Amino acid sequence: MNAQALMETARALVAGDKGLLAMDESNPTCDRRFARAGIPQTVEARRAYRELILTTGGLGDCINGAILYDETIRQHKKDGTSFVKILLDAGVIPGIKVDIGAQDLAGHPGEKITEGLDGLRDRLKDYFQMGARFAKWRAVITMADGLPSWGCIEANAHALARYAVLCQEVGLVPIVEPEVLMDGDQSLEQRRVATERVLQRVFAQLHAQGAMLEGMILKPNMALSGLACATQASADEVAEATVNCLLRVVPAAVPGIAFLSGGQSGELASARLSAMNLRFKASGSRPPWALAFSFARAIQQPAIEIWAGKEANREAAQQALLHRARCNVAARRGEYSAATEAAAA
Ligand code: 13P
Repeated sequence: MNAQALMETARALVAGDKGLLAMDESNPTCDRRFARAGIPQTVEARRAYRELILTTGGLGDCINGAILYDETIRQHKKDGTSFVKILLDAGVIPGIKVDIGAQDLAGHPGEKITEGLDGLRDRLKDYFQMGARFAKWRAVITMADGLPSWGCIEANAHALARYAVLCQEVGLVPIVEPEVLMDGDQSLEQRRVATERVLQRVFAQLHAQGAMLEGMILKPNMALSGLACATQASADEVAEATVNCLLRVVPAAVPGIAFLSGGQSGELASARLSAMNLRFKASGSRPPWALAFSFARAIQQPAIEIWAGKEANREAAQQALLHRARCNVAARRGEYSAATEAAAA
């Protein structure tokens, strides 16, 4: 393990006011999103869409790293240039999703465990050879009556920690992603408590497995009101709950926290991230870690809908993608507002 290189890559992933673009939807997830937008669910459509994203001019001014999927990291532009080279030429660090998805957790009805540890060391070495310098593993935690269970939290935290140390062994910065899903009617406070409990166990396991905290990025959910909760918290309330939760459980050695969007609209995700950064800025202080983004849907959704699989819509889709990416750069500065939406549109 080259500790210095890992630390430098981790810091580079959250440097400046930029963030990460998650474009690592598995084929079934990508196909589901394509089906909703009337796009054919084919290898070529997925390739063309990823080419559209990667050739968006100016994207490198907004993102430091892009998370690819196994199919995508092996693909090329129409002219033969590899996607990895396009990223490197744009100054964007290539990353790769390495979990193989969530399965039912035995003995725990309604809960999931993320799979993919078997053979992971060799797969990570291959991805490093292909040019990846960071990786991602997503654990999924469901909230419902009596859930999440202790067993589910511990099993997922353990898998995340084992994945993280394997990544560091081969020189990849692990993005550690425990996602407490938004579904449910729980209050903001109930969800803050659950998120804190999950993160506390994730860091306990990272310590137990010997992960180097300086060479990783945390990718958590924001603490939000459940989607079905009658009272939806404001951006400021979300910011306060999320930041307080993170301050209690995320060591300052971690260089960056890059949120997932989890199904929030692009506008809400930007507003909430901005409110978090503004809290620190307004008090003249700085958070111990960069508060950044690693959104998929909250950056890509408008672009998919506008593209709709048609070449004629390509440029408009790229503009929509860039717009959302720029809104999130503004959010990192704590400067996102309705005016940002209007100005960049
Ligand atoms: P969303 O931003 O759409 O939640 O996706 C982030 C991600 O990488 C999911 O694993």
